[in-house]
This record gives sequence, C-alpha cells and structure tokens, in this order.
Amino acid sequence: MHAAAKLSIFMCLIATSFAEHHRSCDSPNMTGVLVVSDLRKGSTVAAYTYDSVANKLRFTSFSSDTIYSSLNLDALFFFDEGIFYEVDGKNQSCEKKSLQSSIHAMEIPSNAEFLSNMTLGSATIAEEGLKMSIWRGTVPETKAHYVMGSSMGCLPFSFTYISETILIFSNTAIEMEIKDPDRLVVPSFCEAEVVEDTPEGKVNSFFSLFL
Ligand SMILES: *[C@@H]1O[C@H](CO)[C@@H](O)[C@H](O)[C@H]1NC(C)=O
Ligand SMILES: *[C@@H]1O[C@H](CO)[C@@H](O)[C@H](O)[C@H]1NC(C)=O
Ligand SMILES: *[C@@H]1O[C@H](CO)[C@@H](O)[C@H](O)[C@H]1NC(C)=O
Repeated sequence: MHAAAKLSIFMCLIATSFAEHHRSCDSPNMTGVLVVSDLRKGSTVAAYTYDSVANKLRFTSFSSDTIYSSLNLDALFFFDEGIFYEVDGKNQSCEKKSLQSSIHAMEIPSNAEFLSNMTLGSATIAEEGLKMSIWRGTVPETKAHYVMGSSMGCLPFSFTYISETILIFSNTAIEMEIKDPDRLVVPSFCEAEVVEDTPEGKVNSFFSLFL
C-alpha cells in the first residue's frame, strides 16, 4: 500500500515534468518554405504561413528550379475548427472539407513522446553541428507512425510520416513571424462554400493531401 502510494506519486511527478517539458515546446508563428518528399512521387516545395496561436496554416506549392515539384496544392487549414479549404486561385474556386485528424508537421503533436536529444554533425566543433530533440508518436486516426525533430528553441524542422508510404517534411527558411496575415484569411470566393461530405472510411488530414 505504502509502496504503491509512493509509486503513484512518483508516476505523477514524471507525468507532470513530462507535460511541462512538452508544453514549453510550442511552435512560434512561422513563415517559411516546406519541402515535402515522397519516396515514390518526388518532392513538392511550398511557401507556408503558420499561426501557432490560432493553429491555422496556409500552404501553397510553387515550382522550384532545384527540386522537381510533383503536386500543385494550395490549402488553408483551421486545425482547431476541424476544417480546411483546397483553393484554386486561377479558377477562383474552392472546396471546403472536414478534417478527421488535426495532427500536422508544424507543431509537436500533444501525444508525442520525447525520445532524446541528439546532434547531427559534430557536437563539439562550433558551427559544425545541429542539436535537436527527437519525438515520436502515432496518429490515432490513421495509425501512422511519425518521428519528428525540433531545434532546442522548438522550431519543428523535420517530420517523417510513416504509413503505406513515407513522407518527409523539411521545414526550411523559417522566419518567426506571420509576414502576410492575409494568407490566413479565407478567400472571398470560398466564403459561401459548404462542407463537403467525407467519403466513408476516408480520413482527411494534413498528411492525406500528399498521399
Ligand atoms: C502570432 O500571430 C497571431 C495572429 O497574428 C497573434 O495574435 C499572436 O500574438 C502572434 N504570437 C506571437 C507570439 O507573436
Ligand atoms: C475549375 O473548377 C471546376 C470545379 O468548380 C473544375 O471542375 C475545373 O476542372 C476547374 N478548372 C481548372 C482549369 O482548374
Ligand atoms: C534536451 O534538451 C532540452 C533543451 O536544451 C533540455 O531542456 C532537456 O533537459 C534535454 N533532455 C535530455 C533528456 O537531455
């Protein structure tokens, strides 16, 4: 009894310190370039804007001279509302869909487990190493596994999504601000859209856009 009580207090302390560690690692607001690599289909390069407070993300692919871009995507996610828009700017048309999973590559998911700190390159030679924290977890809705790397200041710079294929998200050229807030506003031609029905068995998520 006594030992059990001690153990449960100990477990609580672990849980608390873990939760604190995690809560201190929220992403900042970000503007950057995301490179999404699919081992089968090639890579997509996209400019993105992320509001970490409202949990909103705009993601617009562009063609790059250095990387063959395989997908043409423009999407606006409202993760907290469980809604996203696929925007066709040329056509001034839009599709509004519900999200069945809110996990994405710009934030350490709340169910992530901290694995370890490590250094890519050299840990001892100045400027020759990249120190990072490694996290892992499962997306409950799809059972996909993920492994994620963040900087010591909590910038999420690498996310590997492992399902029937493997998607690797590399977060580059990060600036810690929202440079263009208009990118996070629903385009006027999308406002009247109603939420489309999700086909039976389909899980819409940030990741399903690339599958
Ligand atoms: C992030 O952006 C939102 C929306 O512009 C703003 O309300 C919030 O204060 C910003 N957060 C930080 C930490 O700058
Ligand atoms: C424009 O949008 C409609 C759907 O509203 C779609 O069927 C059509 O293929 C689109 N055209 C182009 C050129 O993307
Ligand atoms: C990992 O690094 C972070 C940030 O420097 C630090 O707070 C944490 O204690 C480290 N964790 C381990 C297990 O070394």
